[in-house]
Amino acid sequence: MNIGALEQWYQNHQRDLPFRHTKNPYAIWVSEVMLQQTQMETVLPYYARFMTRFPTIESLAKATLEDVLTLVQGIGYYRRFKLLYLGAQYLLQVHQGIFPTTYQEVRSIPGVGEYTSGAIMSIAFNQPYAAMDGNVIRVISRLLGIEENTSVSSTRKKIHSIHQTFIEQATPRIYTQAVMELGALICKPQSPLCEKCPLKTECVALKEGLIHRIPSSDKVITIKQRKFVTFIVWRDNHLAFIPSKNALLEGMYLLPQVERERKQDETLIDTFFHVFSHQKWTMDVVEVDDFDDKDIQWIHRDNIDSIPIPQAHKKIVKTILLAKKSV
Ligand code: ADE
Repeated sequence: MNIGALEQWYQNHQRDLPFRHTKNPYAIWVSEVMLQQTQMETVLPYYARFMTRFPTIESLAKATLEDVLTLVQGIGYYRRFKLLYLGAQYLLQVHQGIFPTTYQEVRSIPGVGEYTSGAIMSIAFNQPYAAMDGNVIRVISRLLGIEENTSVSSTRKKIHSIHQTFIEQATPRIYTQAVMELGALICKPQSPLCEKCPLKTECVALKEGLIHRIPSSDKVITIKQRKFVTFIVWRDNHLAFIPSKNALLEGMYLLPQVERERKQDETLIDTFFHVFSHQKWTMDVVEVDDFDDKDIQWIHRDNIDSIPIPQAHKKIVKTILLAKKSV
């Protein structure tokens, strides 16, 4: 790879992003956690709010999980924020709130995997540790014309080891972000802008007309359809919520709901839908006088903004509160 050409392109074309003005490993950690599962433009306002509210490891570690989740509600994939929060508590306890500087120590932070360790080590500390995400897989497999299935671990290992040799010849801080930026702006999954690519003269996929065949993956995302009856239960201006026990939404507050068809005698208020990455929820909303669950928490209507509610139910709650206000 012409690393010089890639790095030069990055210096000239990189987006101006808040976490590119810092070498603070905590700030970079937060950005990588958010960017792993969420698009840049969605991340930016959340990132700004997060760093204002939790500017340091200590401020995050000393918050409550509920505060953290409330701040990020709407972004999705909430488990990562619980892990980030637990990671901050670990750093406060084990490292006195000072971010460690060696790979082994960083990799030992609960919830910090190989990707995030590599990203922090290279971007914050300019050390040659590879961080491989979907952008990297796409750029490298196209550049070298790797046609094998990239969801297979041997292919990923091969790409990872090539990526590692590249970063060892590069300025790690720049290389890591340059490959990701190239993947995001130029070497896009659909309609890549090959004519603008700094690597176009050496790209095997481009030369052989394989751009749309690489990376090849047989990953089929199956969307599970789930049907719920979702209950609105009021008790003098308090609405019933239940802290979620399922992994997808752990720590978030849900309206009471059961997974089944609506019965004849349950009067439908409205039906709502929500699409997650691997599930589609259909929610028939009904109002009832009582709901039996030992975990019910009664939240005053004026305090509903201070608990973390996932987008799937936030839409319902907003509609219900509006309707209640207008009567
Ligand atoms: N995606 C994940 N991390 C990124 C970064 N640092 N820059 C651009 N895109 C990213």
